[in-house]
Amino acid sequence: MAFRRQLQLDIQPLILLLFSMVSISYALSDPEILLKFKSSLTNHTTLKSWENSSNPICNGERSNWIGVVCQKGAVLGLKLENMGLSGTIDANTLVALSSLRTLNFMNNNFNGSIPEFNKLTGLRTIFLSYNRFSGDIPGNAFKGMVRLNKLYLSKNRFTGPIPASLATLPRLSDLKLDGNRFSGEIPDFKQEKLHVVDLSNNQLEGPIPASLSKMNADMFAGNKGVCGAPLKACEATVTIIFPTSTTPADPRENVSPNFMNKISMWIIVIPIVVGVFILLAIVAFVIINQCKKPLPDPKLKAIKVEDRASAASSNETKPAEAAPKLTFASDDDGDKFDLQDLLNGSAEILGSGCFGSSYRTSLPDGTAMVVKRYKQMNGVGKEDFQEHMRRIGRLRHNNVLTLVAYYYRKDEKLFVCDFVHNCSLAVHLHAH
Ligand SMILES: *[C@@H]1O[C@H](CO)[C@@H](O)[C@H](O)[C@H]1NC(C)=O
Ligand SMILES: *[C@@H]1O[C@H](CO)[C@@H](O)[C@H](O)[C@H]1NC(C)=O
Ligand SMILES: *[C@@H]1O[C@H](CO)[C@@H](O)[C@H](O)[C@H]1NC(C)=O
Repeated sequence: MAFRRQLQLDIQPLILLLFSMVSISYALSDPEILLKFKSSLTNHTTLKSWENSSNPICNGERSNWIGVVCQKGAVLGLKLENMGLSGTIDANTLVALSSLRTLNFMNNNFNGSIPEFNKLTGLRTIFLSYNRFSGDIPGNAFKGMVRLNKLYLSKNRFTGPIPASLATLPRLSDLKLDGNRFSGEIPDFKQEKLHVVDLSNNQLEGPIPASLSKMNADMFAGNKGVCGAPLKACEATVTIIFPTSTTPADPRENVSPNFMNKISMWIIVIPIVVGVFILLAIVAFVIINQCKKPLPDPKLKAIKVEDRASAASSNETKPAEAAPKLTFASDDDGDKFDLQDLLNGSAEILGSGCFGSSYRTSLPDGTAMVVKRYKQMNGVGKEDFQEHMRRIGRLRHNNVLTLVAYYYRKDEKLFVCDFVHNCSLAVHLHAH
């Protein structure tokens, strides 16, 4: 019992001592905070007046320390412009300045990555333009800075995407990121108060979000890949890249991931799909129209007259010769009709190709026949022609039109077969 009381007596002062040490470290005075902050800077000769600790920092609104902004006797901000400063901006130390609202380090020699400003949630303005800060800024670098309304990072060497957390700051009104190497797409800023957004001279790309379309076009100048209002509209062709490698590789390997994002994929795919559908629709339309062709038109008789004239003229010049006769491929068809019957029927031109024209005509009994008229056959002789016709006439196949009859004269070769409905193969293959 006595031992335990002794222990308690020993421990109590120790706890008190620890407690007071902790509270001391939390209660650094403003001059101590600023001097600690200064110690992480280099080339800070211009801050010599900070050494005179007998000087209070603030007298009301007036500051005795160079570069310190005062308000009601408290440190409102640091304005350390054009001082050739470099080193580290120690945000962890500045956390202790509870009334700190603004930091200005413009036009110094600071380099390296952006300081951890998101620990200073009370900040309203941050000015870091004209330094040599570099590297990617983490997406959450400004997360939770609900009071931040001005951020100037112009003319540094920042790279990578614009941090997404900037698009979530409710009070952001002025954002200057110009003259860096930011890349990727512009986040979808939705803040209504945002009225200055300078993104010029970076390496941004993709569409300008609709929320920024009313900004001055100069704000986006010098970014080759950016498009859409207020700049000229985005074109699908701008983003189309055809793989150039000869081996069929994964398309994602051929295209930079920044450029070939999902949106540009759709910009490519949608027009192609729509184009294919339009083409198919045209093909279907043409086929349907071809098959609905009206029955023989009497106006087409002009075509027939030519044939009749040529037949008649051959009669006149050689009156002794018998009327031109068709040769039938099969004996069964013999003398069912003759050439004159074909010429008398109303003719309709079906098509003309390199070898000659095809006509549809009707026999007196109404049977439709097709006459193919060869313009030339390389001067093939009668024997050869008849031999070929006999061979063709012997062909019997479901998918081959059977030759019914043929006609040979030196300057006229006709090929007669039955008429088959449903248009020609060529129409189905080539849509006319
Ligand atoms: C410190 O400041 C006081 C009051 O402004 C001034 O009188 C004194 O000369 C300064 N001392 C140094 C070392 O600058
Ligand atoms: C140090 O600061 C002075 C101005 O205060 C500046 O002229 C000089 O260039 C700076 N030196 C370095 C190394 O930054
Ligand atoms: C920053 O500047 C210092 C001094 O000039 C240099 O030693 C250091 O490598 C620089 N750091 C970066 C990240 O550029």
